[in-house]
Amino acid sequence: MMIPDDGISKQKAQRIEEKIAQMRGGQEMDAVREIIEFDKTPSVLKGDMDRFVIGQEQGKKIMCTAISFHYRRLSQALKKGMTDSGGDIDVALRNTTTPKANIMIVGPTGCGKTYTGETASNLVGVSFVHEDMTKFSEVGYVGQNASDILVDLLLAAGGNPNVAQMGIVYFDEIDKIATETIAYKDVSGRGVQKGLLHMVDGSENTVHIGKERISLSTKHVLFIAGGAFENLDTIVKKRMARQGIEGNWRHYLMADDLVAFGMERQLVGRFPVRVVYDQLTTQDLKDIMTQSQDSALLAYTYDLKAWGIDLEFTDDALSEIARRAEQEGTGARGLISIIHRVLLEDMYRLPGNYTGEFVVDQNTVRERLG
Ligand SMILES: Nc1ncnc2c1ncn2[C@@H]1O[C@H](COP(=O)(O)OP(=O)(O)O)[C@@H](O)[C@H]1O
Ligand SMILES: [Mg+2]
Repeated sequence: MMIPDDGISKQKAQRIEEKIAQMRGGQEMDAVREIIEFDKTPSVLKGDMDRFVIGQEQGKKIMCTAISFHYRRLSQALKKGMTDSGGDIDVALRNTTTPKANIMIVGPTGCGKTYTGETASNLVGVSFVHEDMTKFSEVGYVGQNASDILVDLLLAAGGNPNVAQMGIVYFDEIDKIATETIAYKDVSGRGVQKGLLHMVDGSENTVHIGKERISLSTKHVLFIAGGAFENLDTIVKKRMARQGIEGNWRHYLMADDLVAFGMERQLVGRFPVRVVYDQLTTQDLKDIMTQSQDSALLAYTYDLKAWGIDLEFTDDALSEIARRAEQEGTGARGLISIIHRVLLEDMYRLPGNYTGEFVVDQNTVRERLG
């Protein structure tokens, strides 16, 4: 393997290599190596991200900068820690302090919030857990939820605490634990939010799995929280009007606005990087189909290819699908169901009966969708 030699001597580099070589458990070695070698600049990371996440230019810039800096910092800290602490990764992780820049993403449903987090974890090579916050609003017992998340993180890391400690935790639908939203359920949203503070900050925890007790720190875990925050724009715009500020509200989102929405100030403060994602346009939806590397359309294309059928969509057909998806108002999620509806009949009929080119044009789309 190659350790980048910036700032460390050859000797040190060799020692790190030896220590890594001694490490048990392939996953731990891989994860540590990925992070030690992490050298994607914000723009390189964004370039990689662009192959998957379409649009959201400004948002992706901010996200990629935060993520790139987080893991580069961790990389440097690990390198130093590994040599200072005689190669004990556990001690090295414990002794490094990385200032956290957790990220809050605001944006309509299906615009790529979760997808960005997931893609980032793949590109960096760290484990990813996705936690739906709506379940928190249903269960009143906050402490239980926090430890559930840690268990999920540990599982995503193949049971390896050192791998888990460098992963990404994504809180989906964070707006659902805003105070107003869940007040009617007789569960204090405030309590749920406060229950997350320690974990998000970076705490030492003990996770109980059966009889085993595993200590797990969240100091280096990157937390990303996403939510639709419906009508947050009204709150921001009102404040801007009061203060005589003009411009696109997306560039002026402040902690105060999220607090006015019902988020606890302390929790908001722990997500200092804030990103506002746009509603996807018809053109974005079209681009997702043809450009995003794991788009539903490409998936169906490969599936049909496996039966010897070369699926082609005319440009008109793609525009029609994008328009229909936009009307559904569920962002890119609409694409999946629409493409499925368009192809259902042919996916049943064609395999075994036809090989060669199969072209879907605008008329086909209209016929199938009615
Ligand atoms: N900007 C985008 N670029 C490419 N694909 C996208 C984008 N936004 C959404 N998708 C697709 O739609 C799916 C749902 O998006 P997701 O990120 O879960 O939405 P949300 O913003 O509600 O979290 C993703 O898994 C992905 O396939
Ligand atoms: Mg989501």
